[in-house]
Amino acid sequence: MAGRKTTVKIVKAPKKIKQMAIYGKGGIGKSTTTSNLSAALSDLGYKVMQFGCDPKADSTNTLRNGADIPTILDLLREKGRVDARDAIREGYNGIYCVEAGGPSPGVGCAGRGIITAVQLLKQQNVFEDLDLDYVIYDVLGDVVCGGFAVPIREGIAQHVFTVSSSDFMAIYAANNLFKGIRKYSDAGGALLGGLIANGVSSGYQRSVVDDFVLQTGTGVIQYVPRSVTVTMSELSGRTTIEAAPESDQAEVYRELARRIEKHGESKTPNPMEPPELRKWAAKWSERILAAERGEIESAGAGI
Ligand SMILES: Nc1ncnc2c1ncn2[C@@H]1O[C@H](COP(=O)(O)OP(=O)(O)OP(=O)(O)O)[C@@H](O)[C@H]1O
Ligand SMILES: [Mg+2]
Repeated sequence: MAGRKTTVKIVKAPKKIKQMAIYGKGGIGKSTTTSNLSAALSDLGYKVMQFGCDPKADSTNTLRNGADIPTILDLLREKGRVDARDAIREGYNGIYCVEAGGPSPGVGCAGRGIITAVQLLKQQNVFEDLDLDYVIYDVLGDVVCGGFAVPIREGIAQHVFTVSSSDFMAIYAANNLFKGIRKYSDAGGALLGGLIANGVSSGYQRSVVDDFVLQTGTGVIQYVPRSVTVTMSELSGRTTIEAAPESDQAEVYRELARRIEKHGESKTPNPMEPPELRKWAAKWSERILAAERGEIESAGAGI
């Protein structure tokens, strides 16, 4: 057998695509944060798809100089059959932009758009063919409706990040999301990667968010301050990463991207039950009031 050549067949392992879903209360900054995250990840050399799951179909605007793109549901309504590639448009730095869209106003469940759009891309093998590293779903905060829970429930996304400020309604929405994640976690649903604290600047705001993640067994992956640079960038139809790359705010988004890049295991969160959440909110109300009255030095001290 000496001298016999052995041929070694190298089988390339399929690339593991990281699929993440970003949830949060309406208007909290999901699309802004997601678009800056996509832009920063693409600058790190990754192939990224941003998948807007909001019937408003405005998730990817700042990646495309403010321009709208046809939604998957619109194309389906027009043509009956859709080649998914017709719905994918390139944005900043080659980021693939997709908008699921929604049903005609007043008709049907808006979440159905997500189900249909994800199925279409899966059936046509788009995720693998584009050789993506990251798919980021930008989803409405309300997971009560089955459609919006799809990225979590059906093993589409592996990691969920929630955007929240220190406002009670934002925290309330995050806590509801945690309940949804917990409900589907045993059946192989997505787990929680962490909370992105958006618009959190003053000391007590940070303490409220820090206390919430402590109570729910989670963590803050990045604090994003409110910044006029974000406003100016949005008005120019761009992300902060594109419009103001030298700004401190762009660096905050780049650091978020680096932390997401390094992120390993996600966890099952431990949401608060309604009476517990009410008690928790009342504690913070008293603290903030006492700080306003000058009875304590700072609402955030000593939690
Ligand atoms: N860190 C920030 N600093 C300043 N403005 C911000 C910041 N984050 C978000 N905004 C602004 O807040 C507004 C709402 O943000 P965005 O559209 O990203 O929220 P959303 O959660 O996607 O909303 P919706 O639920 O309607 O989809 C936008 O005008 C955006 O520019
Ligand atoms: Mg949005």
